[in-house]
Formats: sequence, C-alpha cells, structure tokens
Amino acid sequence: MKNRRPLIAGNWKMYKTPNESVETARQLDQQVRSVADVDIMIAPTFTALTAVWEVVQNGPVTLGAQNLYWEAEGAYTGEISAPMLKSVGCEYCIIGHSERRQYFGETDQTVNKKIQAAIKTKLKPVFCVGETDKEREAEQTFSVLDKQVKKGLEGLVLDQLNTLVIAYEPVWAIGTGKTATDDQAQEVHQFIRSLVEKNFGNALSDSIRILYGGSVKPDNIAALMKMPDIDGALVGGASLDAESFSQIVKFK
Ligand code: PGA
Repeated sequence: MKNRRPLIAGNWKMYKTPNESVETARQLDQQVRSVADVDIMIAPTFTALTAVWEVVQNGPVTLGAQNLYWEAEGAYTGEISAPMLKSVGCEYCIIGHSERRQYFGETDQTVNKKIQAAIKTKLKPVFCVGETDKEREAEQTFSVLDKQVKKGLEGLVLDQLNTLVIAYEPVWAIGTGKTATDDQAQEVHQFIRSLVEKNFGNALSDSIRILYGGSVKPDNIAALMKMPDIDGALVGGASLDAESFSQIVKFK
C-alpha cells in the first residue's frame, strides 16, 4: 500500500486567455468538490493566475505556476519571481519542464537555482526530469536521469526537500499520444526513488511524490496509478478540458 497522497497536476502551457482559464477552472472546481483524498493543482499562464485564484481559492484545486526566475526582484525584463507567484496564490511551481529545457535554454544549473528559489519562498517545486527518444534508444535513460536529479538537487539538504515533487516525463511521450507503458514508467520511477534514497536517505525516498507525465488521459490513469512508485500525474493536453481532467483526478 502506498502511503503517499496522490497529486494530479494540470499544466496548461501557453493556452487559454484569463477568461477562458476562469471558465475551465470554475467547471473543474465544481466537478472535483467532493474529492478529498487527492491533491489537485492547475498551472495556468501567468496572466491568468490572479483571476483563476479568485475562482479556486475556497475549493480543493490549488494553483501552480509553470516557471519562475530565481532572483526575488530586479532589472530582469520579462521575468517573474517566486515571491510574486506566492503573492497571487501559487502553492506550486513547475520547474525544468522539458519544453523549457528544449526551447528556452534551461540547463540542470538553472533548474537547480530555480528549485532553490522556490524552496526559499515556500513554493512547492514540481521538478521535471526525463529522457529523449534518442537517449532511450541509446540506453542512456538511467544515466540521463541520474545526472538530472543529482545536478537539479545539488546543494540542497534533506529538510529543504519535504515539499518537493518530482515529475518523470519521458520527452518522447509528451504531447505525442505515446505513453510509456505502466511497466516502463514504474521501472524509471523506482530508479528515481532509489536515487533519492542514495542521495538523501530512505525517509525522503519513502515520502517523496513522483508523478508521471506524458500523454496521461482518463483511460490510462488508473493503470498508471496502480504502480507502486507512481504517485500522481502531470497532465498537459487532457488538463485543458475540465471534464477530462476531473476524470483523471477521480482515477479510482
Ligand atoms: P501531455 O503533456 O499530457 O500533453 O503529453 C504533459 C506535459 O508536458 O506536462
């Protein structure tokens, strides 16, 4: 039996205006009102955060951001800081998503700085890791993850990590309709948990939540959640629709 509380998180990426976001958040809030045993998070765009917070703040849905910059304030045109996100209701922040690594030059080092900034501000980081298609074919999955986890968490100590969530998202499964099989995902989740144990001990490796991401849908979530080391999901496409996301939230 897993004793970790599941987290189902929706990453809305660069979709929806504030009005559209509010509409979806309102529907979702109504559909998941009765859910008490799963943590739920949605990450709208920055411009929709304030409006969405108004809708969800008294219900079970919590708010997350998709990115942050590690300085608290300053002359950094176009960036948003952890304290700013916290001040508009964010509880979580997605960090190091593969799209950020692929299109916006994020590295293990910048990811590490962002995780540190989130923790300092008491934002819960959703730290994304995952291998590309090429890396999997070259049988480098485990070495890539080892490096991403080690470098991403460098310099952090055990008692800073109790709110951190890891999201395993094989890059080849994101937005492609190709999901890792339950066994493929479980194998990697178990490996990531063993890395956490090796670096930080088994109290953390037993309690840390490791989410799976990559083409999660209402019809594959239940089987994924049966795996012993899968504690939830980071959902892209299927989180944009309140009905399909709430079905994922109610996976049982
Ligand atoms: P997807 O995206 O569910 O659309 O594959 C997942 C993600 O990028 O977090």
